[in-house]
Amino acid sequence: MRILALLTLVSATSAFAASDADREKAFKADIAPLLEKSCIGCHGKDKTKKPKGGFDATSLASVVKGGKESGAGITWGDASKSSLYKTSELGISSPDDDLAMPPKKAKERHPLTKEQLEKVKAFIESNK
Ligand code: HEC
Repeated sequence: MRILALLTLVSATSAFAASDADREKAFKADIAPLLEKSCIGCHGKDKTKKPKGGFDATSLASVVKGGKESGAGITWGDASKSSLYKTSELGISSPDDDLAMPPKKAKERHPLTKEQLEKVKAFIESNK
């Protein structure tokens, strides 16, 4: 009986999990355009240069992976453990912070808007 209960649990969980295809679709529709405007100038647009901090924001796979120092770009289900979210949030709330993105010293800064930040959070937390 216990095994049966476990199997039911496993299949119920996977029925609600987002597939890679769902995530990819949502990324292209909702997130990539924001990163395009605010981030990829320093993070991957120019393929002849290394992305800053080792963070390449041009594909979902590389965004999930994150950069050299701040851990995973996306931890599905938890924006607070996702450097994509954390650095963007600091970019709005604390531009002086070393981890704030875009950096304060950037010549042209287009931080995410609060609405865009909420979109990023929803993307991370609703596609687990
Ligand atoms: C003007 C250039 C510039 C822009 C625009 C920019 N960044 Fe960065 N980013 C950097 C630099 C430089 C670093 C390396 C760390 C440092 O020196 O602050 C970095 C590091 C990072 C890291 C940490 C990588 C690690 O070490 O783990 C993340 C995540 C990140 N950026 C996300 C973003 C996001 C998200 C945006 C858009 C909202 C963005 N960046 C926009 C220059 C930029």
